[in-house]
Amino acid sequence: MSSYNDKFEKESIPPNTTSQKAYSVKFIAVGDSYVGKSCITTRFVKDKFEEDRIAAIGVEFGSRQIIYNNTNYLVQIWDTAGLENFKSIIRGYYKESAVAILVYDITNVESFNNIKNWLEGCKYLAPSKALLVLIGNKIDIEEERKITKEMGEDFANENNMLFFETSARSGIGIEYVFQKCIENIDKRINEGFYDLNDM
Ligand code: GTP
Repeated sequence: MSSYNDKFEKESIPPNTTSQKAYSVKFIAVGDSYVGKSCITTRFVKDKFEEDRIAAIGVEFGSRQIIYNNTNYLVQIWDTAGLENFKSIIRGYYKESAVAILVYDITNVESFNNIKNWLEGCKYLAPSKALLVLIGNKIDIEEERKITKEMGEDFANENNMLFFETSARSGIGIEYVFQKCIENIDKRINEGFYDLNDM
């Protein structure tokens, strides 16, 4: 049986355009301000962490290629601002998302309680077949944890979401989130569950 590492290759490997399939996969990241959406994106795209990042204005974009099962997946992340006054701006960005990432901060109870509102938004605005993913971020500050792993897991199970805990600061879990998402997308495409060109 092969492991993730057998199946995944990083973008440094040049695509073989004659034989490899290629897909762009649109991700949208939502959640309260300050939970770490931009830092998760930057960690995944550039393997960097920015301390004291200022709140995003509107929507930011980052992309990186993942090769899985001989297929090039261009992960395109639309990283949205969590502040209330940007909610109307980000509405249009849910369209055509294959994956919706909902992020809370494990040290911030309100950010977890608000996930139900972000989920409602996703159900209303994102494609009905979008993969829903819940992330509890900032696990490097375990001593400040308010939301247990079990609370996150239970919410995810009840709402048919994948669940992960991460630290954008240390990098723990970040690569795994995107690998798992692409693995799921690949499976869905191969099972004919959806066509990324028709989301
Ligand atoms: P908005 O753009 O306002 O929606 O916020 P955001 O969710 O994109 O949060 P952002 O990535 O800007 O991070 C907010 C703050 O949390 C910054 O000061 C980051 O340095 C910090 N931060 C992000 N991820 C982590 C993490 O994993 N651990 C710790 N300790 N701090 C983090």
